[in-house]
Amino acid sequence: MSDYQASYEYAHSLTAADPLAGFRDRFYIPKAPDGSDCVYLCGHSLGLQPKTVRSYLEEELEDWARLGVEAHFRARHPWMPYHRLLTEPAARLLGALPIEVVVMNSLTVNLHLMMVSFYRPTRERHKIVIEENAFPSDQYAVKSQIQCHGFDPGESLLTVAGEDELESLLGREGASVALILLAGVNYSTGRAFDLTRVTNAGHAHGCRVGFDLAHAAGNLHLKLHDSGADFAVWCSYKYLNAGPGNIAGCFVHERHARAQLPRFAGWWGHDQETRFRMGPDFHAMPGAEGWQLSNPAVLPLAALRASLDIFDEAGIERLRAKSVRLTAYLEFLLLRQADLGFSIVTPADPERRGAQLSIRVPGKTRDICERLAAQGILCDWREPDILRVAPAPLYNSFLDVYLFAERFAGLVV
Ligand SMILES: Cc1ncc(COP(=O)(O)O)c(C=O)c1O
Repeated sequence: MSDYQASYEYAHSLTAADPLAGFRDRFYIPKAPDGSDCVYLCGHSLGLQPKTVRSYLEEELEDWARLGVEAHFRARHPWMPYHRLLTEPAARLLGALPIEVVVMNSLTVNLHLMMVSFYRPTRERHKIVIEENAFPSDQYAVKSQIQCHGFDPGESLLTVAGEDELESLLGREGASVALILLAGVNYSTGRAFDLTRVTNAGHAHGCRVGFDLAHAAGNLHLKLHDSGADFAVWCSYKYLNAGPGNIAGCFVHERHARAQLPRFAGWWGHDQETRFRMGPDFHAMPGAEGWQLSNPAVLPLAALRASLDIFDEAGIERLRAKSVRLTAYLEFLLLRQADLGFSIVTPADPERRGAQLSIRVPGKTRDICERLAAQGILCDWREPDILRVAPAPLYNSFLDVYLFAERFAGLVV
């Protein structure tokens, strides 16, 4: 690429030609100290608020006020089956069948529920493989599951850096591995795993395979069903823009839809035809819905609906195509300044990453984020020396990327 491509004019021309640029206006953009829109590059942590969230919530608040309990059946969108309004949009977004998807709980809760069903260790096969530097909540969850079954995480928990290492590990000790649980995209490095390759490797050795898609949902163009994974979980507050701590999702592959898997049960997972007979014995609904515990919280679901409607309109294929270009542009601008003493730890191959680039800045501290924020740039920091920067294709522009690169360079000299 040329000097012109590193210019403000070029970034401006890319922004003007972007067919998805109009989606930015659907979101509230936080303000910089000078009152202008800030450059928000934190969609990997908390996505921005769609302007429509308020009206989706107000509709449910009004129906609650107007109808009370009757709203379960008579609301404009009756609450009894409300969670199903999310099923098809979520399935489309993740490349899953509707029967494979349910929106419920939060991510770590869903991870535990999935491990209750898919981590069934025996004396011979008791190990769990996770990726190096997995998100701490996942590490705590898998260690506590291992301990609940009377095993020692020191022996039963293994880590791998990537697919090659996983395949050779399975070649050596696959018969002792019960579960492989990897991220879709690692939270720290931004590295994306090949779901199909991981799943095939695991299944070839008789292991169950699940994924934490916290940083992949709404970011990558996923084909979860085709990957063959046994299960997956994700949250909705990052690239999915559904609001802080909002309701999560869970995928269980179709081949398990009617299997009598051991599980923790609750009344909302019970066969809906007989649920209100209030009988003592649990009969699971087919599919992912059979893992539900409680009746769903409609207000969080309404916020997620507002967001998924935007994803449906934009289309994950188009969003991913823009995202690949946005992140490549960010990489190009940064690499022109690489002599400034930082490196990009995220893989260069677009297939092996999502929107995020993780920039290692040796010798710098979290203070760099505060200095960027003072100039209207929001990104975040992961110890010891990683700056995470993610242009989200729904609301970020090529100009945002340009402004970040320019101001970052001013701080790392
Ligand atoms: C990769 C990953 N897994 C799990 C979690 C935990 O999610 P929750 O607090 O919704 O359970 C996070 C939170 O950021 C995450 O990034």
